[in-house]
Amino acid sequence: MGIKKIQDGKFEGKKVLVRADFNVAIVEGKIQERFKLEACKETVEFLTNKAGVKIALTSHLGRPDGQVNLDFSLLQLVGELEKILNKKIVFMADCIGEQVAQALEKLAEGEILLLENVRFHGGEETNGETFSQQLAENFDVYVNDAFSVCHRKQASITGITNYLPSYGGFWLQKELENLDKVLNDPQLPATAIIGGAKIETKLGLIKIFEAKYSHVLVGGKIANEALDQALKFSAKVILPIDFAQDRLDLGEKTIQQFKEIIAQSKVIVWNGPMGKFEQPPFDKATREILTAVIESGAFTLIGGGESVQVLEENNLMSKVSFVSTGGGAMLEYLSGNEMPGIIALQVK
Ligand code: 3PG
Repeated sequence: MGIKKIQDGKFEGKKVLVRADFNVAIVEGKIQERFKLEACKETVEFLTNKAGVKIALTSHLGRPDGQVNLDFSLLQLVGELEKILNKKIVFMADCIGEQVAQALEKLAEGEILLLENVRFHGGEETNGETFSQQLAENFDVYVNDAFSVCHRKQASITGITNYLPSYGGFWLQKELENLDKVLNDPQLPATAIIGGAKIETKLGLIKIFEAKYSHVLVGGKIANEALDQALKFSAKVILPIDFAQDRLDLGEKTIQQFKEIIAQSKVIVWNGPMGKFEQPPFDKATREILTAVIESGAFTLIGGGESVQVLEENNLMSKVSFVSTGGGAMLEYLSGNEMPGIIALQVK
């Protein structure tokens, strides 16, 4: 079943709340994962071209547990967002209440309102009815462009859709199109590369790709866990045959074997690092495999915080066919699990 798309909405003269995912790491004041801020650009541009429209952006940042905590304030993102969106951003120190209504009234043409972190209110994570209503009451329409939060049942993702006409933004649509493409219609041979930690959260994904793909290459901590637990897979699932010191990275023979399979692939999906990459030299397998993926000429889809971090650090984002903003959300979607945020947008 399809979702309601932003292209189908009427926005002229309306107050529109856009839910983005600005949940980025900020290290010593420097914003990481800048591409997450860029993701809402097309949606914002589309809306600003409609006559008389007023736009507010909303997001969470971190996990402040329903408390105001300025370490997680969206105020930190204003400068970067102004550059990316090429618009003046007016910051509002709360996301609900009369002051939001007044700020919307005063908003001049070409300006965009940025509302403070929705998770400063306990009702966000509990999907509270009152908070969902409060969030909705200053607006006429809601647009969800935060695919990477759609696995959460939270007020600004699901609750709000009970009170406003709701649509999926362009980025959210792109995520669904690309994930559906690699999941349902992969050109063969296709290879999934799955790493990271917590085998119990990745087993579903390994099974899905084992059924649909030519190869599933398993690295990272989950490879250790699979070997230690003597998990049984078909021959399509390839576990490491050797490791670097203390099993913190893949060994040379495994890297070589993985690279040969990658070079033959027409479609490659990757989630999770191959070793403890944040601690060199245990970043070797992740980096070498990344290079092999990029050089393969395959349709490549990469997601998950750490893999994307390696791409950004090395200026390689543009070399990947599609980079998903979703870590947990990408896993859930590809594993075939229900996504409350997507269900809430479905044409009923
Ligand atoms: C993410 O960064 O993956 C999303 O923003 C979801 O964040 P959360 O895991 O804190 O809900």
